[in-house]
Amino acid sequence: MTKKVLLIGTSPRLNGNSNQILKEFEKGAKESGNETEIIYLNDKKTNFCKGCLVCQKTLKCVINDDVKEIIEKMKTSDVIVWATPIYYYEMSGQMKTLIDRTNPLFADKYNFRDIYLIMTAADTGDYSGDGCIKGLQGWIDCFDKTTLKGIIKGFGLENPNDIQNRKEILIEAYEKGKNV
Ligand SMILES: Cc1cc2nc3c(=O)[nH]c(=O)nc-3n(C[C@H](O)[C@H](O)[C@H](O)COP(=O)(O)O)c2cc1C
Repeated sequence: MTKKVLLIGTSPRLNGNSNQILKEFEKGAKESGNETEIIYLNDKKTNFCKGCLVCQKTLKCVINDDVKEIIEKMKTSDVIVWATPIYYYEMSGQMKTLIDRTNPLFADKYNFRDIYLIMTAADTGDYSGDGCIKGLQGWIDCFDKTTLKGIIKGFGLENPNDIQNRKEILIEAYEKGKNV
């Protein structure tokens, strides 16, 4: 079955490690016949949630910025792939800001079911993404039709192009994309 796969790159480094892994995931997903789109947050205006909760009644956010279009795309996707650098052992602030802004979808009908997470960190330790996984799982638990289907750990990557010396991670992303 063809799926609509939305990939969200949250790093401010457009050609950094997490976005390069994301592109490989997309390549795999596209090659197996799915409809794909990547959104990069680096050039998007994403303000903080105001906490007004108007969205729980109107299903619309009161803030006029690029997030409106992003959450419309999220709503109609079957699969969402998040890519984030690890910042202080958590997801990036950019990713958390967008997660908070998905609040209109909490009260709405949404299609997405399968969530994937790509993380990159300088640290090589397997624990490096634990805070990020916990944070994302909190969002997934609230959107209770969704599950965390796969995690890609790009650890031991510091400079933007370090991923090019770790082809096995790019292959893993491609394969996961193919089987999405
Ligand atoms: C503000 C900031 C905080 C960071 N915090 C961590 C950290 O807690 N642990 C770690 O291993 N790497 C940390 N890093 C390094 C990045 O996670 C690493 O360079 C990663 O590969 C960046 O991914 P990107 O190229 O996709 O942006 C931090 C980098 C920045 C800029």
